[in-house]
Amino acid sequence: MIVCHCATITSQEIRAAVDWMRAADPDTIITPGKVYRALGKRADCGGCLPVFLGQMEQCATFGVPDLRGAASLTPARGARHERRRKGHRVSQQGIAQ
Ligand code: FES
Repeated sequence: MIVCHCATITSQEIRAAVDWMRAADPDTIITPGKVYRALGKRADCGGCLPVFLGQMEQCATFGVPDLRGAASLTPARGARHERRRKGHRVSQQGIAQ
């Protein structure tokens, strides 16, 4: 079934692209833009996106990767971080003597 008439993309091509992307990178988040790029095509009118997304969601490999391990990437409360100190502004440092 042709899903995107502007770029002539079929439902089989969408499913194959999603499966290929998941096999290439198990942690990636698959978007319609990535599918278009994988197929070497570009969206034009965007009218197909609801059906396009529906086709993507029907793929068994479409699922969002598990982000439970992402909490370990954020610094613990009160932990030292690389941001600027709050008193970095000259007006907050007072007059140097
Ligand atoms: S029908 Fe897909 S971009 Fe127009």
